This record gives sequence, C-alpha cells and structure tokens, in this order.
Amino acid sequence: MKDLTPDKASLDPIEIASRDEISALQLERLKWSLNHAYTNVPHYKQAFDAAGVHPDDLKTLSDLSKFPFTVKQDLRDNYPFGMFAVPREQVARIHASSGTTGQPTVVGYTRNDLDVWGTVVARSLRASGLRSGDLLHNAYGYGLFTGGLGIHLGADKLGLSTVPISGGMTPRQVRLIEDFKPDGITVTPSYALSILDEFNAQGLDPRDCSMKVGVFGAEPWTNAMRREIEDAFDMHAVDIYGLSEIMGPGVANECIETKDGLHIWEDHFYPEVINPETGALVSDGEQGELVFTSLTKEAFPIIRYRTRDLTRLLSGTARSMRRMEKITGRSDDMIILRGVNVFPTQIEECLMATAGLAPHFQIELTKPGRMDQLCVLAEAADASVQGELRDAAAKALSSRIKQIIGISVKVQVSDVGGVTRSEGKAARIIDKR
Ligand code: DLL
Repeated sequence: MKDLTPDKASLDPIEIASRDEISALQLERLKWSLNHAYTNVPHYKQAFDAAGVHPDDLKTLSDLSKFPFTVKQDLRDNYPFGMFAVPREQVARIHASSGTTGQPTVVGYTRNDLDVWGTVVARSLRASGLRSGDLLHNAYGYGLFTGGLGIHLGADKLGLSTVPISGGMTPRQVRLIEDFKPDGITVTPSYALSILDEFNAQGLDPRDCSMKVGVFGAEPWTNAMRREIEDAFDMHAVDIYGLSEIMGPGVANECIETKDGLHIWEDHFYPEVINPETGALVSDGEQGELVFTSLTKEAFPIIRYRTRDLTRLLSGTARSMRRMEKITGRSDDMIILRGVNVFPTQIEECLMATAGLAPHFQIELTKPGRMDQLCVLAEAADASVQGELRDAAAKALSSRIKQIIGISVKVQVSDVGGVTRSEGKAARIIDKR
C-alpha cells in the first residue's frame, strides 16, 4: 500500500498546536457555547436553572462537569425545532435520524455551521490520505442521513472530485469504480463488504481496483475487519466517526500514518468520558460513555450530549488533539447473556479469526425456555465450505467465543449470500425474545 501521509504544511495549524493553545481556545469557545445555548434555547435555560448552574460558573474546562447532561429524549421532547438557537429562517440545512424506533431526531445548521462541518470533514479526509484533485466515490447515503451530504461538503472543501453515488445498486457501484477509477471510497464497512462480494461475483479482482484508501464509519468495526478489508482491496482502511446530534461525520478521524484510534477535532467538539451508571467523569484512558459538547455550533448547540458510545480517551499522537479508541459498541447494542456483557464487535473479532467463514454476520437472540439464547448467523466463505468443513467452521467459532468471551452460543453457517446484506448501517442484532 502506498504511503499517503499528508504534508505537515497542508494541516490546519490547530491540528498540531500545543495543548495549551488548544485548551485556551476550548475555554473561550465553551463559554460562548454555554451562553448561546442558555440564552437562546428554553430547554437549556430550564435545565441549567434546575441544576443551579449558570454559564458564568464556568471558569475552567473542568467546570463543565457541573452542567447537566442532554439525552436523546430531550431532543425528542423538543421535536421538531425546539432545540434550535437561531430563528428557523437562519437554518440553512436540516438533517434527521430515520426515526424507525420512535420520534426522529432533528438537527439544524446555519451557513456558518455548514462551513465548519466542511472544514472538519475536509480535515478528516486529508488525515485519511486524500488530497486535492483525488477522485472520491462517496457511497454513504444522501438524504436526511448526514453521511452522504456531510462527506460531500468536506470533499468539496478539500478540492476532491466527488462521485455522489449514495448507497445501493451494488452492481452499479462496482461498474463506476471500474470505469471512473476513484482514489478513495467513503462507505460503511458493512456495505464495503457487499461491494467486495460484487467484485468477486463479476469475476473482477478487487486488489486490482484503483482505490488507495477507504474511509469507513457510521457503525462499529474492528481492527480485524480493517485487516480483512485492507487485504481484500489492497488499500488503506481508516476510521471516521460522528453523529448527527453533534454534527455528522467528521467529529473524529484516524490518521493514515498511525491508524491508532481517532483524533477528535477538539477545537469544535469537547469530549468527556463518563461512567454510564453514575454519570461521574472517568480519567483519560478509562472506558466509559462518550459525551460531547459543541464549541462553535450556532443553530443547534449541544451541551454534554450522552452518545451511548463506549470508548476511552487517549493522548494525541499524529496530531496534538486527543484520540478516542475505536468504539467498542453502543450501550444500546450491549447484549447481556446469562450475566455476561457482549458486544457485536467481540463476535466480529472471533468470526474474523475463524477459517472458512465470510465476514458477514448477524446475531439472533431468542428465548426458547427461561434462558436467552444467542445464535451467530454466519456464512460460508465460498461454495467449497460444505458438510464436514462447514460443521468444523461452526464448531471453531463457537469454541472461540466460549474461550474468549465466555459464553455458549449456537452458530448457524448458511450458503454464500445467506446473511442479509447491508446497504448502509448493518443491523447486527435480530431480537426475537
Ligand atoms: O452515522 C454519522 C456518520 C456518517 C459517521 C458517516 C461516519 C460516517 P448517525 O446516523 O447519527 O450519524 O449515527 C451516529 O453511529 O453514535 C455511533 O453509535 C455510530 N458510529 C458512527 N461512526 C462510527 C464509527 C452517523 N466510526 C452513531 N465507529 C454513533 C463506531 C460509529 N460507531
């Protein structure tokens, strides 16, 4: 794989500024953001008043822990525009979560917010090894989801040539990759695997494709999956993180030269990690729930938002800004099986280490009697994995899971194509309990 490390001179100066400079900027911006939210959003005025805190109480960055959390329900209660801090006419863009499991969550951006979003996504794509003039195949979904349009903003800002293909129509994805010869692809890791299958189905060698880097996010994926994708396409695989409540993609990104976790763009998003049970702050290096406060957002300031994503904060390496470790999973996706906490990413790691199985999987939960049962729906790597070979692969996976995670599970290995494919975010858990 080619060395795609960006030139130091091409970075935003703040990316490599001293910690003191970064903290000073954060403090100044945090004061502004708390005031802006308190003055312009009734929800924040009520919540701060109820907690007995005022924006003027923030003298140092650590004072932020005195302020109340914001949770998804607060956004739902203020549906659709109640959390906006500017008149609706000044909102240049609205995005929303799909809302399949309840009220959709609505977020808004002023023109200035869109400009900042473009800046952090451009920074993310540059950290991923892309540079002005490169051709980008953007297969994140366009629409209310922030993936497609968010990446597009940053790609424009970095000076890329963007193919806004969006998700779906997999044969056409492969056709356009073959014909247009992009330098990079932006897509969920699970949909990248569907595209990979399609290359093979068309008799094409994915390692011969033009792509040098893929920027993968919007769902948890492991380092084992990184190796699988890098090897299959002979390209770099870099992690991008974000959520619509905070901005969309581009809140944090890995640097291609280190691939050691995601640098949080701390000049715009202030991170904390808390114990999800008690809400108390944990120290850097300790696992917990990630909490974000926006520092510059105008239309939709967000204070101490509980993401439910589990990770830990680490010091900077390729950039001065702190890193977050690859997300282990969402607390919502944690399965508690007979007292043991299990994340789909742990199953993914075990699956990737098992010969004879494809990287696609789902987890089915049932309750045949009084006990919950977990079945891993896996898939044969190719048509030769039949009969005894298939039984052996299933057995190897269940013993590995028993040994590493400590739970007894069933494994069902289907024919090639048997596991439902994703065109965006993979649905890992099918709960039939
Ligand atoms: O998924 C934004 C995004 C688009 C990020 C494209 C990266 C690339 P939401 O739909 O609001 O926004 O979902 C946010 O997805 O809280 C995490 O649980 C999960 N997530 C996003 N990126 C990652 C990642 C977009 N790199 C939710 N690793 C977040 C693990 C991720 N989980």
